[in-house]
Amino acid sequence: MPNAGITGWGRCLPPAALTNADIATFLDTTDDWITSRTGIRERRISHVLLQDMAEVAAKRALACAGLTGRDIDLIVFGSTTHDDQCPNMASGLQARIGAEGCAAMDVNTACTSFLYGLSTATAMIRSGVVRSALVIGGERIAPYMDWNDRNVAVLFGDGAAAVVLQATERDEGVQLEKLGCYGDAREILRIRGIGGAYVHQGRLLGATEWQFEGQEIFKKAVNGMGSACEDVLRRAGIGPDDIDLVIPHQANLRIIEFVAKRAGVPMERVFVNVQRYGNMSAATVPVALCEALEQGLVKPGAKLLMPAFGGGLTFCAHLVRFGERVTPIATSDAELPPATHSALEMVLAWRAAKGAALA
Ligand code: ACO
Repeated sequence: MPNAGITGWGRCLPPAALTNADIATFLDTTDDWITSRTGIRERRISHVLLQDMAEVAAKRALACAGLTGRDIDLIVFGSTTHDDQCPNMASGLQARIGAEGCAAMDVNTACTSFLYGLSTATAMIRSGVVRSALVIGGERIAPYMDWNDRNVAVLFGDGAAAVVLQATERDEGVQLEKLGCYGDAREILRIRGIGGAYVHQGRLLGATEWQFEGQEIFKKAVNGMGSACEDVLRRAGIGPDDIDLVIPHQANLRIIEFVAKRAGVPMERVFVNVQRYGNMSAATVPVALCEALEQGLVKPGAKLLMPAFGGGLTFCAHLVRFGERVTPIATSDAELPPATHSALEMVLAWRAAKGAALA
């Protein structure tokens, strides 16, 4: 049975940054509150569709692997904030990267969507259904954000990243994973206003309200990720000292610190970039993986632990062994068009549109 090695990686962050000080101009909050409770200092706001960010990330990942779209058998697109419900995101990406004819599916498990997608693609490679796959984690949350709610507006950001998986006989890729879901707690994180339940109810699409019990989510996140990490380490027969780097979901610095403590891994071996991007949901883990590679923190053959949680409440942890190559074969010149408005201008425009529609 082949393994599914990670042979390419690429990320795409929209250029417009929304700082805590920007948010404090229209909500009753402060940089000090946001930084001390979450670790977040700024987040990106996308001026383009999610598909545009995913295309750039995918082209960079393909170049990194030394492949073209024609070499890809399967696209798995992990996201919760699709540009369209039908057709799916993966089918739209297919032609943009020249992968016509390949299998194309979306996975939606909120913030764990990339890692659930990694499991899906790995299983298909192991079973011989496909030989290669492109797995995306991407979100454009800003249009769905309730920019009047300080409980959630400070937490999230936009971004995308992708990895290429290829069948290999080498001991690489996902070694073990634990996937789970606290379905009985799904009401503690609900975005009201997206989906068929709200159609013909007199609600403007995008006029969302977030049902969000922060402290309950916090506890479930720590428990879910902590127990998943313990399960994976136990089954692998290894301890925290055997983990070279933890690349966790980036929702809140305090959650990351709790999970690292429970897994027994010191923070020096935990990758953190939540301060620059906030919670990009499905994009956080692959963006963090790309940045860890770019910074030389992933050594050849490194053992990585990747825990995550998301709406549902889904949770997971993946033990990944990286291959010998930790640098790109080639780079892509794919870029987003420049942003013509600042992040604050975009957010204030959405806020005004929602206010006008609800007036
Ligand atoms: N600015 C200022 N004050 C605020 C803000 C804000 N942005 N948000 C809330 N507050 C106030 C509250 O109103 C409350 O005031 P009160 O005491 O007068 O009632 C006070 O701050 C404390 O609120 P708490 O909710 O108790 O704050 P807490 O320390 O729990 O931090 C937070 C809140 C950051 C949301 C935390 O609970 C958390 O991180 N939870 C997990 C959330 C998370 O990670 N979500 C992402 C999951 S989604 C996903 O990954 C799919």
